[in-house]
Amino acid sequence: MAATSTANVFTRDALRGKIAFVTGGGTGICKDIAQTLLEHGCAGVAIVSRKMAVLEQSARELTAKAAAAGASGVCVALAADVRVPEQIEKALADCVARFGKLDILVNGAAGNFLALSAKMSYNAFKTVIEIDLLGTFYTSRAAYPYLVKSKGNIINITMTNHYTGMQLQAHAGAAKSGIDAMTRHHAVEWGQDGIRVNAIAPGPIENTEGMSKLAPPGYNETLQRTIPLGRMGTVREVANAVLFLASEAASYVTGAILVVDGAAWMTIGGMNYPDG
Ligand code: HXC
Repeated sequence: MAATSTANVFTRDALRGKIAFVTGGGTGICKDIAQTLLEHGCAGVAIVSRKMAVLEQSARELTAKAAAAGASGVCVALAADVRVPEQIEKALADCVARFGKLDILVNGAAGNFLALSAKMSYNAFKTVIEIDLLGTFYTSRAAYPYLVKSKGNIINITMTNHYTGMQLQAHAGAAKSGIDAMTRHHAVEWGQDGIRVNAIAPGPIENTEGMSKLAPPGYNETLQRTIPLGRMGTVREVANAVLFLASEAASYVTGAILVVDGAAWMTIGGMNYPDG
């Protein structure tokens, strides 16, 4: 059965007093991650992207939803482009100035579209590498001094498309492969600092920009047939996995890439997209 809440799974104070910084947190999966962190006791969550108007509205909404769920945490909007280290450094400094520390970093900012390598512009490939791979490195690198102090943790959002060499995804697959590698390298390098570094690889998640951008016509019907669990996932099912990794329940888990996809990649990775 699809999870749309976390009732009766985690206690509401699982992340009591923690401060989180969520890139890409203004919309989609990462917005629900921010909400889930707030609902489980985070005292502050900064959501970060390029679009301040979207962020401000989301921050108001998430703070109100947290209050309605009995939580007292605050969501704040911070504008930054993850491709620009100075902007990310400033947003992290603003977050720490506001809340006093940083415990949890979620690297969720991503860009994607369907494109054949033979037709894609050089700049298109570079853009996705810059947002996904460089953005994850810049943000992790800039957050490191704060996470050393808090013995905090990082959760990178990756994907499964590169497990099979899916068509039209060479740019995103190359970027996310790098993120998978970085997850392991940082887990090893930063373990001695008490920092855990893990990743979540979501599969097909319903009602997301990713699915509406990436799914060719008829794809949803194919998914229902071929995903072993027989359905797409919910944003909350991804957020629940982030909550687990961010929490003390995962205190000995680092360098892991947790696939949240109903076993989809094992059965749909080789499907043919129309020529893009
Ligand atoms: C081919 C494209 C393209 C497309 C853009 N480009 N869209 N090429 N097909 N559909 C090219 C442009 O022509 C340009 O190259 C270059 O990419 C940069 O485009 P810009 O629009 O200038 O870049 P920017 O404004 O920075 O936008 C970045 C973006 C955009 C990635 C292109 O879509 C974006 O900001 N997306 C963020 C949100 C998003 O994509 N979310 C989905 C994530 S889903 P030229 O050569 O013309 O200059 C996800 C999960 C996947 O990651 C899971 C799947 C199951």
